[in-house]
Amino acid sequence: VAGALLTYVHRTMWPWAALVLVALYLHPAAAAADTVAAASYSYIVHMDKSAMPGAFSSHLRWYESTLAAAAPGADMFYVYDHATHGFAARLSVDGLDRLRRSPGYLSCYRDDARAVRDTTHTPEFLGLGVGVAGGIWEASEYGENMIIGVVDTGVWPESASFRDDGLPPVPARWKGFCESGPAFDAAKACNRKLVGARKYNKGLIANTNVTIAVDSPRDSEGHGTHTSSTAAGSPVAGASFFGYGRGVARGMAPRARVAVYKALWEDGAYASDILAAMDQAIADGVDVLSLSLGFNGRQLYEDPVAIGAFAAMQRGIFVSTSAGNDGPDAGYLRNGSPWVLTVAAGTVDREFSAVVRLGDGTTLVGESLYAGTPHSLGNTGLVFLGLCDNDTALAANRGKVVVCDVPYIDALTPAISAVKAAPRRCCTTSRGAARPRPLSSSR
Ligand SMILES: *[C@@H]1O[C@H](CO)[C@@H](O)[C@H](O)[C@H]1NC(C)=O
Ligand SMILES: *[C@@H]1O[C@H](CO)[C@@H](O)[C@H](O)[C@H]1NC(C)=O
Repeated sequence: VAGALLTYVHRTMWPWAALVLVALYLHPAAAAADTVAAASYSYIVHMDKSAMPGAFSSHLRWYESTLAAAAPGADMFYVYDHATHGFAARLSVDGLDRLRRSPGYLSCYRDDARAVRDTTHTPEFLGLGVGVAGGIWEASEYGENMIIGVVDTGVWPESASFRDDGLPPVPARWKGFCESGPAFDAAKACNRKLVGARKYNKGLIANTNVTIAVDSPRDSEGHGTHTSSTAAGSPVAGASFFGYGRGVARGMAPRARVAVYKALWEDGAYASDILAAMDQAIADGVDVLSLSLGFNGRQLYEDPVAIGAFAAMQRGIFVSTSAGNDGPDAGYLRNGSPWVLTVAAGTVDREFSAVVRLGDGTTLVGESLYAGTPHSLGNTGLVFLGLCDNDTALAANRGKVVVCDVPYIDALTPAISAVKAAPRRCCTTSRGAARPRPLSSSR
């Protein structure tokens, strides 16, 4: 550590190097982390826009000049002008330290947090008056002429939810853009329903150096297509999940337009990208910002959703965020700042029942999304294996119906894998064919 500190002082040669040394001695752990003082991280830096000296022609020039003076050669990969004021950049420890002392610097936080995806739900259950004259849904005009910006994993534009049948031209006030890229032809993808599609991953690249497989607004995962169609999807008749839940699928605001801002990637979801997406959505003129994502345990002043949403709220943009899919214990709420609507996940008043009849005449009613012909397992044995977390016990009961006491279907995944990996053909898991549904991600 001593050697490293020497190098540090020699290399910086700034008058406040002594100050830095004191700080390092006071925090031995930090000193160890700085053995590679050259190591850099990406940060979101907030600047006091009003502090710009008159000599600068624009805030961008001022930020560039400030950054160049504090950290020569540092890469500024985003400039924020709407969701907040400032920029995102990769900085070394000493560069950051000098930046902190620059005029106009307000605060900064590490761009290392990963956002978590959430989800949403249904109009019938909310009693909006589906197909009812004079209902609240009709009174809302189904979102006519509203533009909803969705920050998420992008969009699958071929989904029938994004057809624009019967929609009037895109409102002239709209300033958004539809961006072409791999597997995404803007000319084909965007229309009067999907009025914008952009992607943001400079933060992801600055932090991870990953090679992006589909570097375009294309949704290679599904979450963003789910949330944007839930918000503003056009009516799609004859929709079902393998025969379950047959009906008309539609968004909560089926006449609204939707613009997607892809900021969540399979390789990670960085605060700087989310803030850039919100920045652009505000500039583009969305009426509503919808974010089905959130950060765990962030202070409001380091939470890009809270910060960007505050700026949006100041401009009259309504911001809707998700509370998350965890709980019901205390401490699981994501978002929830007073200037946004935070929507909790819940169950709905719809069940897909399935019946298991046992040899002794006992009938068990549960839930299933199994859509095939009913199974008859004849004289198959039935065993209860508690949490089903004992691989030896699972393997010893191959071929039997195994009942597991698990709180959530995902908890069974390792058990199912263990049984599948066993050499012989085998068994049905938990409650026979009746699988519990995931409790939270209902729509
Ligand atoms: C990314 O790659 C460049 C060039 O190889 C390297 O200099 C940089 O440190 C890498 N950044 C990260 C975050 O791994
Ligand atoms: C797992 O199951 C086997 C076989 O039933 C049993 O012998 C063993 O004690 C169990 N292990 C644990 C940790 O419960």
